[in-house]
Amino acid sequence: MRKFGLIGHPLTHSFSKKYFTEKFEKEGIKDCEYELYDIPNAFELDEILNDDPDIEGINVTIPHKEDVIALVDDLEEACEEIGAVNCIHIKDGVRTGYNTDYIGFKNSLSPWLGGVKPKALILGTGGASKAIKQALVDLDIEFLSVSRSEDADQITYEDLAADPEIMKSHHLIVNTTPLGTFPKEEGMPSIPLEQFSPSHFVYDLVYNPPVTTLMKACLDAGGKAKNGHEMLILQAEASWEIWNS
Ligand SMILES: NC(=O)c1ccc[n+]([C@@H]2O[C@H](COP(=O)([O-])OP(=O)(O)OC[C@H]3O[C@@H](n4cnc5c(N)ncnc54)[C@H](OP(=O)(O)O)[C@@H]3O)[C@@H](O)[C@H]2O)c1
Repeated sequence: MRKFGLIGHPLTHSFSKKYFTEKFEKEGIKDCEYELYDIPNAFELDEILNDDPDIEGINVTIPHKEDVIALVDDLEEACEEIGAVNCIHIKDGVRTGYNTDYIGFKNSLSPWLGGVKPKALILGTGGASKAIKQALVDLDIEFLSVSRSEDADQITYEDLAADPEIMKSHHLIVNTTPLGTFPKEEGMPSIPLEQFSPSHFVYDLVYNPPVTTLMKACLDAGGKAKNGHEMLILQAEASWEIWNS
């Protein structure tokens, strides 16, 4: 049996387990299984892999995406830049780390923009934002990070509200904060919504609800909006491709 799985903590509900179990069933893949490993400490991964040589692939979620870097033998180049691993391929005893959030976002954003390359604002500076930044660098899209805290290489929400030129010149807004996620659907990052125009695009990493309050504000102004569901699917499929390479 070829084995795959997800490590993280806590693992209350997992998109990946459901996705891969259904995929194996739907596609008649009978020699694969996908397990959950709820481990408080990333270093427990060593024991899991040493105990089971049939494990070929591991997905990694919060809070272990950074800690597992110390547990792999090799890192894919983009992953090194991002500083986080969410997919590990174990082949001939060698563990290689990848970041499929980055691959999923890039492959989802690019066709959606249809060749346009608007300057971007990335809302939030957490783990996912690092993968988004690397994807935008690859796609040659200029960006500014927006944060609640002041720092040399980012602006604050107050800066954004104070200078209307920023929203006028940055037409792609990527939400990497959890604001707007079910059940607190009314939440959204505090950006000047009245400045949304038909030229704006909102890419929200949140996928539940399917139309977030932030997306709705952009759509109401005649702009375009997309949620994070496709990114989620594409990152899972990117893992599958890596594990079968
Ligand atoms: N669709 C997908 O495939 C996909 C993949 C990965 C993640 N996600 C989603 O993306 C979101 C972020 O994930 P993550 O791992 O980056 O989380 P994270 O590390 O906790 O970072 C989220 C960032 O959002 C900002 N933030 C948090 N709470 C906030 C608040 N109350 N008000 C304003 N800003 C706030 C913070 O940035 P500042 O401190 O700089 O303000 C924080 O660093 C989650 O909803 C996750 O489910 C989706």
